[in-house]
Amino acid sequence: MTNILCIGAGYVGGSTMPIIASHCPEDRIVIVDINEARIAAWQSDQLPIYEPGLDEIVRQTLGKNLFFSTDINRHIAEADIIFVSVNTPTKTFGQGAGRAADLQYWEKTARQILENSTSSKIVVEKSTLPVRTAEAMERILNSNGNGLHFDVLSNPEFLAEGTAVRDMQNPDRVLIGGRETESGQKAIKRLVEIYAQWIPRDRILTTNLWSSELSKLVANAFLAQRISSINAISALCERTEADINEVANAVGRDERIGRHFLRAGVGFGGSCFRKDILNLVYLCEHYGLPEVARYWEQVVTMNEYQEARFAANMVTSMFNTVAGKRIALFGAAFKANTNDTRESPALEVCRALLAEQADIVITDPHAMENACYDLGELASRITFEPDPYVASKNAHAIAILTEWPQYSQLGYERIYNSMVKPAFLFDGRNLLEHKKLYEMGFNVYPIGKPPLTHLVTPGFKHS
Ligand code: NAD
Ligand code: UGA
Repeated sequence: MTNILCIGAGYVGGSTMPIIASHCPEDRIVIVDINEARIAAWQSDQLPIYEPGLDEIVRQTLGKNLFFSTDINRHIAEADIIFVSVNTPTKTFGQGAGRAADLQYWEKTARQILENSTSSKIVVEKSTLPVRTAEAMERILNSNGNGLHFDVLSNPEFLAEGTAVRDMQNPDRVLIGGRETESGQKAIKRLVEIYAQWIPRDRILTTNLWSSELSKLVANAFLAQRISSINAISALCERTEADINEVANAVGRDERIGRHFLRAGVGFGGSCFRKDILNLVYLCEHYGLPEVARYWEQVVTMNEYQEARFAANMVTSMFNTVAGKRIALFGAAFKANTNDTRESPALEVCRALLAEQADIVITDPHAMENACYDLGELASRITFEPDPYVASKNAHAIAILTEWPQYSQLGYERIYNSMVKPAFLFDGRNLLEHKKLYEMGFNVYPIGKPPLTHLVTPGFKHS
């Protein structure tokens, strides 16, 4: 039996470890966190994250070989392998503020591992970290002089929220980086054996430490770059009557380009893309590569442009004022099938419309509590309404900001009839059937396609 510990019971720790537990019944997995409420929630009927399929796996393993605890020190002492999946947000202070990763939680964990260890261990970086962080981790851990040895591995996580269970059960690849020393290679082999319980061996890649750490940042940067690329083209489509879906399909059919991650929208959100690209930008600057830094920075700039452009287009289309107008925002989560609202474009659009003094109503099937929390003081100016029909009643406009499948099933005729006329619909995810909505009477503004309006849109030249 291997004693596996995971420090950090967030989205990553909480969704990966139950799956490891389910595939490794001989091993004992403990997840710890400083957040007592979170640890309690993981053991309750209402898990702290909404992730399709996860409840069942937690239920099957909890109390058998999966345990949650706040007694971090004790479990460190007992562990053979420690995964660290604490948060690594963007630094908000001092050197590198706004770009560099804030490694304080990370370093605290390293010191806590050192203080509480009585046996040698494998420490696995699961969090996303700047390249060469493992070096600092090794220095801290192996500074003990008490004869213990720590092997540090990098095993970045590639799961996406909303599909975490599927991604973890059947990943494209698992990446494990380690030292090229005998002990480092032994540690890699041990971790490979865990994943090999359910993942074909040829999908488990092993590399040096730095390649593994850097690959995670690069993978996220490439994914986000594709979204910014298609969003940039969506702006051009809106000026030229090209259709972004048709362009994305035509371009993506080239196997060298591929069809994934070419969905134009209101911008990418989530806790990681922005943070990881800014971290990459900071690293490039740190290593004296300003041109490379500017290249990647543009991916974030384009995303901010897309969010701002969407909100500005709403204001311009609604006769240049939304002050006092009820606007229903459909969706607060940064994508469908999650309750996560971190860096959600929906909240950015919400902030921009509040600045224009709009009367905002937010509806979302799972993310309202987090939206309320993330909006902070602004939340008191917003109505949170679980029922989209009630949210859109007497509204001047609806904006689709999260691609929840249930939003494509709504009775839009009923919604239209309950709205103030002219009724506007801004589809920030190109989720709905625009022509049908237009025929119902809506003025429809998709992304990357000409608007379908019963008004003459200022600035848009029909051919
Ligand atoms: P999260 O904020 O949801 O969870 C982090 C948890 O760590 C929190 O519950 C926090 O209380 C806990 N924590 C912080 N310091 C601690 C300490 N000293 N001891 C014990 N617990 C501590 O974060 P997350 O979304 O799970 O992300 C974690 C890491 O994984 C980040 O580096 C992120 O970039 C990376 N990542 C996230 C995703 C994702 O989909 N969210 C995917 C891949 C990688
Ligand atoms: C992303 C990556 O996909 C994961 O591989 C990675 O592990 C994770 O970040 C991480 O490091 O945190 P996630 O942020 O959960 O996962 O979700 P994505 O599916 O990547 O979507 C991110 C954002 O891009 C969402 O706002 C989504 O709506 C948007 N998006 C995605 C588009 O606008 N268009 C697309 O074609 C795809």
